Formats: sequence, C-alpha cells, structure tokens
Amino acid sequence: MTQDELKQSVAGAACAYVAAHLPQGSVLGVGTGSTANFFIDALAALKDRLVGAVASSEATKVRLEKHGIRVMELNDVVSQGLAMPIYVDGADEITRDLAMIKGGGAALTREKIVAAVAGEFVCVCDESKLVERLGKFPLPVEVIPMASAQVMQALAKLGGEPKLRANCMTDNGNVIVDVHGLAIADPVQLEETINHVTGVVTNGLFARRGADVLLLATPSGVRELRRA
Ligand code: 5RP
Repeated sequence: MTQDELKQSVAGAACAYVAAHLPQGSVLGVGTGSTANFFIDALAALKDRLVGAVASSEATKVRLEKHGIRVMELNDVVSQGLAMPIYVDGADEITRDLAMIKGGGAALTREKIVAAVAGEFVCVCDESKLVERLGKFPLPVEVIPMASAQVMQALAKLGGEPKLRANCMTDNGNVIVDVHGLAIADPVQLEETINHVTGVVTNGLFARRGADVLLLATPSGVRELRRA
C-alpha cells in the first residue's frame, strides 16, 4: 500500500469513528495536513450530522467549505455553549502513550487551541508516524517574528539545532523555527519549558494534552489504540 492509500484508509476509519461516537447536532473539530484532507473529503458524506466544524487552519476552512460543510468560529462555539466532543487531526510523530509532535504544516497553534476545547483528540496516522521516542522529526515552534533570533538562541541552549523555516508565515502572521536533533526524554517538561521562552507562541509538542485515541493505518488494517 502507498502512504496515500494508508492515509485514505485511516480517513475512512475516522469517519466511521465520528459516525459512531459524535452525537447528532454536535460540532466537530478538524485538523490540518494531508491526512486531515483525506478525512475532510470523506467527511462530506456525514455533513448533515454536524451542526458545523471548527477549522484549525485557513486551508482546512477552505476545504471544508468546498464540501459544503459549515465552518464555525471557535469563539461562537464556546460562547454559545455548543458541544465539540471530537477533534480529528494527524501528527508528525506519535508515541504509544499518545504524546505527539505536530506542526509540520505550520498550524500547530490553532490545532492546540481547537484540541483544547474538544472533548476527545482522535489522531489519524499511518504507521510510519509511530515512534519509540519523539524528536527525530524536527520540533516546530511558532515564534513572534521580532523575537526569532533570541528564541533561536534559547532553543540552542536546550540542546537542539534551531532553523528558521524558509518562506513560511503562519495563519497568525508568525514564523516557524524547526528544532533539529532534540533528545526528547520528557515531552511534558520540554513542552512547558519551550512555552516559557519569551517570544514563543506555542510549540509542536502535544504531550501535556496528547491524543486520547490513535487510529493507526497499517497494510493489514486500521488499529485503534486508546490512552491508558
Ligand atoms: C499540521 C500538522 C499535521 O497534522 C502534521 O504535519 C501531519 O501532517 P500529514 O497528515 O500531512 O502527514 O500538525 O500543522
């Protein structure tokens, strides 16, 4: 199976998960990236079940709207007290205890915000993303542009090799620094440490609040793992 076929199979499994677990009339949180795109395409068949969807990026918003799925502002969902029981998104790396690195598509901050509101984070990946230890994939950090030099110095002190992502501006008007070569022994601690560096908006470690469910595509089918 190609990687795209694996992504398509897990997107189908995520739709089946949503059909089985999302109460009628709820809002769904939708992530960003190529796996999320396959999911959005498959979700079109379920659009009448949803009150609407909250998008984690401008690209996801455009794709949802192209399928006629109503996109809602997160602030409206929260202030109207609407339920958003599920958030579906991909990851760049994920461990067996469902801590992740995200942000390869530069949408990490909005992804973390939408995920924080959702009841459950359902991660959709092909098996190449499952790792013993996080950090082979360079850790994305969203940074206020005027602070990029000082933040890169602080990140280098943590033992990584920070590189400014070329030609990349986030949906929030910021830059991305990718930190290579980090040995991430304690993802929760590192997530907090990096978030405390002045000028950092957020970082791509999703460990303090990881996934609750992992749908993992393998050539022999989609496996479901739950956080212990
Ligand atoms: C975007 C993300 C994506 O979820 C992550 O990069 C995985 O993407 P893909 O499904 O294309 O491999 O975090 O910011």
